[in-house]
Amino acid sequence: MAQPQSPQGAPHAAILGIGAYRPSRVIPNAELIEAIDSSDEWIQQRSGIKQRRWATPEETVQLMAVESSKKALAHAGIDARQIDCVVVATVSHMLQTPAVATAVAHELGTDQAAAFDISAACAGFCHGISMASDFVRGGSASHVLVIGVERLSDLTDVGDRGTAFIFADGAGAAVVGPSETPGIGPVVWGSDGEQFDLIRQKEDWRDVVGTPEVPGSGVMPHLVMQGNPVFRWASFAMAKIGQQALDRAGLSIDDLDCFVPHQANMRIIDAMARSMKMPERVRIARDIAEQGNTSAASIPLALDRMIAEGDAKSGDTALLIAFGAGLAYAAQVVTIP
Ligand SMILES: CC(C)(COP(=O)(O)OP(=O)(O)OC[C@H]1O[C@@H](n2cnc3c(N)ncnc32)[C@H](O)[C@@H]1OP(=O)(O)O)[C@@H](O)C(=O)NCCC(=O)NCCS
Repeated sequence: MAQPQSPQGAPHAAILGIGAYRPSRVIPNAELIEAIDSSDEWIQQRSGIKQRRWATPEETVQLMAVESSKKALAHAGIDARQIDCVVVATVSHMLQTPAVATAVAHELGTDQAAAFDISAACAGFCHGISMASDFVRGGSASHVLVIGVERLSDLTDVGDRGTAFIFADGAGAAVVGPSETPGIGPVVWGSDGEQFDLIRQKEDWRDVVGTPEVPGSGVMPHLVMQGNPVFRWASFAMAKIGQQALDRAGLSIDDLDCFVPHQANMRIIDAMARSMKMPERVRIARDIAEQGNTSAASIPLALDRMIAEGDAKSGDTALLIAFGAGLAYAAQVVTIP
């Protein structure tokens, strides 16, 4: 009986380069407080956010994805034609089909790379890194571009006190490729669908557009969130997932140089670090203060800042942990390129 050969991949995979795109419009807290009867002080104290960036109409999901990818390719020293798979993690690409990844792969000049989008909200980038690592080691691809990109301002109700000051826009990308030594540890991932409703798009697209029987309101669908339970879940359950990712990588917290959690909220970042007993010397990503919560883009944006500012150096060991709507989560230990 004829049998297909098994694919053969690289012995190990690693992140070879990181790039980011920060939209041009800076929105300080002062610009949002009137509509939600809030204050700069309250927002900073409850979330750590001083400002965020919202994209202009020209700064589309595709544009931000392409620009962050060009920087990641340059950082990795890889030509776009070497990329044979493009994975875009996003929840804010407004066309349900086709995948924006196909347009990004084309615009970058890949040689007809496989390209598709994934929807895992704020956990999307870490899902993509895990998949890319498996593709490279399993022989499905040699170099994979993983992009996290969001225009959450399109889905934000500026009058909603629970979300208006949190969500933001941007893109970050990573090139994953073959490596002589392990650079991406085993993923710990999962979901808690019982809490599906805690963070979600409020309106179904069919309600927005309307049907002949039920005409729509014509407003964009908005993200809604039950802040308190999300805060508790993220602060405590996710610290355990971080520890499991260290255990699966065969490392202890003392082996870490950097901690790069999803930039959801500064208080959640601090609570996780406390809960995990993060040593003082571990550098912790705090990109949220300037960038807000950019969902799938938040971890590569934070990594980009840490590398640019010298807080993460090539060869450093970093714990990534991402979590959000679903509730979906993913964590892994990686080596900084
Ligand atoms: C959103 C969040 C900052 C709200 O903070 P909170 O302490 O839970 O706020 P509460 O809803 O309990 O309200 C507390 C008080 O603040 C007030 N308040 C709520 N939103 C406010 C706002 N935007 N500005 C000013 N005051 C506000 C409430 O009216 C309430 O006042 P009261 O005590 O006089 O009744 C917090 O729940 C949070 O950070 N959750 C996690 C969100 C997150 O990170 N999500 C991303 C996950 S991917």
